[in-house]
Amino acid sequence: MIVAILIVLAYLIGSIPTAVWVSKSVYGIDIREHGSGNAGATNTFRILGSKAGSVVMIGDMLKGFFAVKLALLACVFSHMQVFSEPFVNLQIALGLVSVVGHIFPIWADFRGGKGIATLFGMILSIQPLVAVSLIGVFLIMLFLTRYVSLSSISASVAFPVLIVFIFRAPELSYKLFAIATACLVVLTHHKNIGRLLHGNESKVPLFRKRRM
Ligand code: G3P
Repeated sequence: MIVAILIVLAYLIGSIPTAVWVSKSVYGIDIREHGSGNAGATNTFRILGSKAGSVVMIGDMLKGFFAVKLALLACVFSHMQVFSEPFVNLQIALGLVSVVGHIFPIWADFRGGKGIATLFGMILSIQPLVAVSLIGVFLIMLFLTRYVSLSSISASVAFPVLIVFIFRAPELSYKLFAIATACLVVLTHHKNIGRLLHGNESKVPLFRKRRM
């Protein structure tokens, strides 16, 4: 019973549509009608500038981070042991459910973002060292290509590789989670992949001004 309640809570936390609420309440626009149409940090940076983008990025990361921490409540209200296999599996499940909430938010017509910041917050919560390595992959790709989407996809594809070959995680659940993450990110970025292939994906400019 407690696990079911935590799953619902994780979905509701993930559903908080940070980009939509910030853009509507502070700037009077719906971010989903501008730029790439994505309700995420990248599009908020693109359209509303670094202050709004930072708020959305941190807010979206915190959703994944705290959704994972909900697993601790299962240890308080049931016989689950911290760091046991069921605990690790529950952490992963709660984090992934929050990412699903971010992509399909009940509070914003089920039209949310692509899951990157929330996934990152989740990984930071479970495996901080892996999260730092993924930031490294992301930043190197961003420096080389200036495509945020390609950098996000590259980091997510690097995730299972890092888990298996660098961190050598023995748990099957981590490996499955990493593979699922890579697949999910490729799916949520299918429009970006199309634009990348056609050469019309937008790049991060070296210097930019706020557009709104
Ligand atoms: O985090 C999403 C990013 O990878 C791409 O966002 O707005 O360029 O589609 P966007």
